[in-house]
Amino acid sequence: MSDPVLRLEGLRKVYNPGTPQEQEVLRGINLSLARGELTALIGPSGSGKSTLLNVIGLLDSPSAGELYLMGRPTRDLNDEARTRLRNEAIGFVFQFHHLISAFSVLDNVLMPLMIRHGKPSTADVRLAEQLLAQVGLEGYAGKRAGQLSGGQQQRVAIARALITRPPLLLADEPTGNLDTRTAEQVFELFREINREFGCAVLVVTHDPRLSANCRRSIELVDGHIVRDTGTTP
Ligand SMILES: Nc1ncnc2c1ncn2[C@@H]1O[C@H](COP(=O)(O)OP(=O)(O)OP(=O)(O)O)[C@@H](O)[C@H]1O
Ligand SMILES: [Mg+2]
Repeated sequence: MSDPVLRLEGLRKVYNPGTPQEQEVLRGINLSLARGELTALIGPSGSGKSTLLNVIGLLDSPSAGELYLMGRPTRDLNDEARTRLRNEAIGFVFQFHHLISAFSVLDNVLMPLMIRHGKPSTADVRLAEQLLAQVGLEGYAGKRAGQLSGGQQQRVAIARALITRPPLLLADEPTGNLDTRTAEQVFELFREINREFGCAVLVVTHDPRLSANCRRSIELVDGHIVRDTGTTP
């Protein structure tokens, strides 16, 4: 059996430790995600979903416990190694897409590769165009990102998150600011990507209809997992 993409052991997160504002937001999370698993993360506002995603995405450090990405423990990594692992292993999609509106759609998608190694190669451009076609934006490569609709921009953000071919895609309420129909289309896209690229997807959503479409859903309440519809062996 290959290592799971992600494994969390007794993960805890305390904000403002040792101050009157101290708050334990993640209270011992154990979780494993297999390669290619599509999982919804649900739970009330303030339950710790974004905190968990940020910790998993190596944007924030846990206060205790261990996080394994592709079987590698991450606790003792220095900043440089964490950044490298994040760039290699993880794609992010946020509620607000954070595209650079004055740049072309193509350049936005290529940005993670340009940050990594400068000028994109012909193969990079070909992959970006392929991903744009995949998200239904064939013919949009040369347009300025700011000229696209909200749903189109979110699809550009998804293509951008996939350009590095990450084994794990994290999405924090990616459909939160979209209308119902567009949200369903974006979610359908996650399912397709999951099927075709085989990357594990962990997606935070408030919409029970969207989470009902995932094979697995995990519910977080007060920093605890209170329900998990399918556990990875
Ligand atoms: N950077 C921070 N510093 C201190 N406290 C924080 C920080 N980020 C979040 N919190 C607190 O941690 C708790 C969990 O927040 P989090 O953003 O993880 O919740 P959430 O489940 O994503 O909520 P929502 O559904 O509203 O997005 C909240 O009480 C919040 O106030
Ligand atoms: Mg949140």
